[in-house]
Amino acid sequence: MKKLFAIVLCLAMVFSFAACGGEKDDDKPVLKMATNAYFQPYEYYEGDKIIGIDAEIAEAIADKLGMKLEIKDMEFDSIITAVQEGSVDFGMAGMTVREDRLEKVDFTTSYANGKQVVIVKENSAITSVDDLFAEGATWKAGVQLGTTGDIYATDDLGEDRVTSYNNANSAVLALIAGDVDCVVIDNEPAKALVNANEGLKILEATYADEDYAICVKKGNTELLDKINAAIDELVEDGTIDTIINKYIK
Ligand code: ARG
Repeated sequence: MKKLFAIVLCLAMVFSFAACGGEKDDDKPVLKMATNAYFQPYEYYEGDKIIGIDAEIAEAIADKLGMKLEIKDMEFDSIITAVQEGSVDFGMAGMTVREDRLEKVDFTTSYANGKQVVIVKENSAITSVDDLFAEGATWKAGVQLGTTGDIYATDDLGEDRVTSYNNANSAVLALIAGDVDCVVIDNEPAKALVNANEGLKILEATYADEDYAICVKKGNTELLDKINAAIDELVEDGTIDTIINKYIK
């Protein structure tokens, strides 16, 4: 009986040890990321989980920092404010590095490239990006609020010809409904949207080339340096390429 008791006790100890051992995620400090998860393939929902290129790279960075990643989904337009206020540690959302944003936040080294393209209906009278800028043209563009697509289109076409929506999907629905004549948006999300909706195409010419990076609170060089070091390692060992190639065929 005593022997049996000893064995049971031993087993119990082994099991509880196993349960405590290994990586205990809950004990790790939390690294909070802000994003806007309607931007396939960079960040989007699969069920109630946010997946995508940014989500996976962020996970790998958090791992390197010995931290546990927590993703907060919000309007794209709110990300920089959240980073400035410190309610999150960083923003990652296929976000383009821009001078005016550098006045509000600091950016890491770039981990990917993007470009702005134009989506139109398959039978659209708009046949090239230049048509949009033609003398006397009145074509209307739909964009996602606060994105570079919004900024460029507003600069080039004027406020009256641009309508901003909360996310790219709403902008595309407006295009399908005929409320706007085109949508200006990043290339990869554009491809995903054209694949998901019938009767749309992307115009050949690129509107603008861009670099994507992570933003942190201005002056938070400690976190900036750590993330940059992690990105360097993840570029070097091929992790970032593998992640990008997994989502962009
Ligand atoms: N690259 C563009 C920008 O920085 C669009 C990014 C939109 N990202 C998103 N997750 N909705 O303005």
